Amino acid sequence: MEELISLCKRRGFIYQGSEIYGGLAGTWDYGPLGVALKKNIEQLWWKRFVLDREDMYGVDAAILMNQEVWKSSGHVAGFADPLVEDLKTKKRYRADHVLEAQGIDPKGMSFADMDKVIKEKEIKSPEGNPFGEVRQFNMMFKTQIGAVEDENSISYLRPETAQGMFVNFKNVVDSFHPKLPFGLAQIGKAFRNEIAPRDFIFRVRELEQMEIEYFVKPSLWEESFEHFRKESKEFFKEIGLPEDKVHELEIAPEDLAHYSKRTIDFEFDYPFCRKELSGLAYRTDFDLKSHSAGSSIDLSYFDESEEDKEKKRFIPHCIEPSFGVGRAILAVLSSAYAEDELGGEKRSYLKLAPEVAPYLIAVFPLLKNKSELVLKAREVFDLLRKIPQFAGRVIFDETGSIGKRYRRQDEIGTPYCVTVDFDTLGENPEHLDTVTIRDRDTGEQKRIKIKELEFLKN
Ligand code: GAP
Repeated sequence: MEELISLCKRRGFIYQGSEIYGGLAGTWDYGPLGVALKKNIEQLWWKRFVLDREDMYGVDAAILMNQEVWKSSGHVAGFADPLVEDLKTKKRYRADHVLEAQGIDPKGMSFADMDKVIKEKEIKSPEGNPFGEVRQFNMMFKTQIGAVEDENSISYLRPETAQGMFVNFKNVVDSFHPKLPFGLAQIGKAFRNEIAPRDFIFRVRELEQMEIEYFVKPSLWEESFEHFRKESKEFFKEIGLPEDKVHELEIAPEDLAHYSKRTIDFEFDYPFCRKELSGLAYRTDFDLKSHSAGSSIDLSYFDESEEDKEKKRFIPHCIEPSFGVGRAILAVLSSAYAEDELGGEKRSYLKLAPEVAPYLIAVFPLLKNKSELVLKAREVFDLLRKIPQFAGRVIFDETGSIGKRYRRQDEIGTPYCVTVDFDTLGENPEHLDTVTIRDRDTGEQKRIKIKELEFLKN
């Protein structure tokens, strides 16, 4: 992890949030290459789950929502982590993490159970002090809307994007009249006041989610659940995650969230341990029912295809595939990070899938001080970046020795380096208008015609 965090900072992927002021825990800023990687992952997700389908509707809901939304969804009452305080230092810890550190599995334990175990086993804080009671700590960031601060002006930064879709269910039905099954999809920020943010971008306070709320006839939920289980795995493959590092975990009934009847977590072998990458939940009709009751707006669905009159109007059930963008990025980066020896030199590089790498191709003139090489290399660069599939994914680099430039591109995961040399200019007439193309992983170089570079589109 340390090597990876250092590479991310050095090469402009991810920086600590508010770094020049000493940072702000649980926040991270994406630099130019981090943004490119993130956008590539988000675009692949959006293409797979929205653009390539006829049953999906994209939305982009406001982050601030009426506080009633969070009362109906259950977040005001129950979106809490178990908090325990060191009585001397007043430092706060997650009680479940405290138990895990002692080798005790907190799965299925209520807050009272955790309290009991901490007391019975006389577990102390890392500083060696006694702990207070295990308490509920609501993770939503509370804020005030407008100039008057009172109970009515309370709002929250959304802790999940999901509710933005449930409250727009009726809008989308009224505008588009979709037939069941259909889904709403959204990519956006969410905020959680995590007691213990940690492990780089794994557990943060400001995060990004890619979520789908997929509405189905109640009797057909299993079909869609299976469909999204498969699609999730396909998506992980597409972004380059090794299949043997992705695992499914069936959540035990006693550990299910209040809205879920079934949940599978996809876990990933991160460098620090196996942890949740994304989730797939069967949320039943919990949310639409709660919002119908809370808003007094009827959120039932009229199913014209249903023969039985009694069954024509009902509240659809919901399947929710929920992906954390940061966790996907960390999985991609950590599994791509590699070290080896090339040409007698040690190197670290990112074996990123071409689909997600910030740049696909780097173009170099062999020497910076030969204007004819630079001009020709610029020509190749311009030619490539005008190809729509390569837009924004080609970089020109003329700084430093060619070896250094290769290493730099290896470290940021660029799959191909194209070099314009004297042969390109016709020094060897047989090789006129050819370039060398170097493979990031093997370091092998081939000479090909400039025209043939288009093959990289595939
Ligand atoms: N709408 C359902 C929902 O939000 P969740 O399991 O709480 O479910 C979904 O979160 C995903 O969001 C997780 O699988 C994870 O990828 C990501 N996530 C949740 N909390 C996070 C945090 N503090 N930091 C980074 N990612 C987080």
